[in-house]
Amino acid sequence: MKNLIRFTPIILLFSLSLSGCYYDKENELYPVTACGDTAIVTYELSVKPIMALQCNRCHSPGNPSGNVITSTYEGLSKEAISGNLWYGVNWEGALQTRMPQGALDTLSVCDRTKIKKWIDAGAPNN
Ligand code: HEC
Repeated sequence: MKNLIRFTPIILLFSLSLSGCYYDKENELYPVTACGDTAIVTYELSVKPIMALQCNRCHSPGNPSGNVITSTYEGLSKEAISGNLWYGVNWEGALQTRMPQGALDTLSVCDRTKIKKWIDAGAPNN
């Protein structure tokens, strides 16, 4: 019993220092996915590549699901200004309007940040 009382502070300190180390390493264990610069957002360099990767296979002139085209500036800017683009990628509506449709999660915070900044800037063709 006496030993337990004597060693308790030492055990506590030791476990605290361990968790401290673990916390320090967390950023190395789970690096934030590289997503490029969110400070300067343009249609060509920031938004268009996201659409090409995540959206255009279902939203091109040849296959405009829900009458939505994300593969051209004209099509996408229309959705951006109407509010539908943000509504879709931010999963604000029913299951079938959550884009990319069928995905298990939203686009990354980084990708959504870029899309939001572009929309808030008035969806310019830059
Ligand atoms: C697997 C195919 C598929 C993918 C990938 C996909 N969509 Fe869709 N999208 C659909 C379909 C189908 C609809 C029509 C849904 C409905 O109205 O029931 C739709 C509807 C929409 C709408 C209209 C939503 C509304 O409120 O009516 C927008 C905007 C949209 N998609 C944007 C996107 C964007 C942006 C991406 C990429 C992040 C994307 N979609 C990826 C299939 C897809």
